[in-house]
Amino acid sequence: MKFFIDTANLNEIKEAYDLGVLDGVTTNPSLMAKEGIAGKEKVMAHYKAICNIVDNNVSAEVIATDFEGIIKEGKELAKIDDKIVVKVPMIKDGIKAIKKFSSEGIRTNCTLVFSPGQAILAAKAGASYLSPFIGRLDDISQDGLEFIAQVRLIYDNYGFGTEILAASIRHSMHVIKCAEIGADVVTCPLSVITALLNHPLTDSGLAKFLADHKKLTRKNSRFKIRN
Ligand code: G3P
Repeated sequence: MKFFIDTANLNEIKEAYDLGVLDGVTTNPSLMAKEGIAGKEKVMAHYKAICNIVDNNVSAEVIATDFEGIIKEGKELAKIDDKIVVKVPMIKDGIKAIKKFSSEGIRTNCTLVFSPGQAILAAKAGASYLSPFIGRLDDISQDGLEFIAQVRLIYDNYGFGTEILAASIRHSMHVIKCAEIGADVVTCPLSVITALLNHPLTDSGLAKFLADHKKLTRKNSRFKIRN
């Protein structure tokens, strides 16, 4: 299972990368706006800065929604670095653009995916990654994880090569369940990645080990002084 971080914040990306478990980064226009990155030059430079931190897979999303615009913007993004994956929304012109990108060897991430029909179209068009948004489905009382399982089944039935990149992940159980279902990738905020480290029995167990070690060290040092 690949681990991506879902942020445009350079410090968070560095922190996750330093853990040694990061396989990539996903961004979107909202995440870029959160960092105050606006204007073509600044956006391009920011993507380059992200590429300089990680080894591969930096999803950079197009803003255009018409075929020609998506192609132009996607090609500009792809030129920034070989690590760039062009993120394209699940719309009619997006599917046409994904087909063209895939025929030209440009990797794509089809985003804003909420139904199995959309997942089939993205795979048929040759998307490298499919981003189903689990949390946003949960928000409207639809089961996001059930959707991931449906897509897994469909892709396995036909041997589609598109990787399932579970997105809009809100907590660590989403990650565990995605791993059980067999999502190829999860993209999470840093807080979800670090939450995976935690268990109260680990904390109490470590505290006890260290306390016992300290007691023994004190006992030994008293013994040495007296003798
Ligand atoms: O990768 C897509 C993701 O950023 C959406 O997450 O939390 O805004 O639903 P969220």
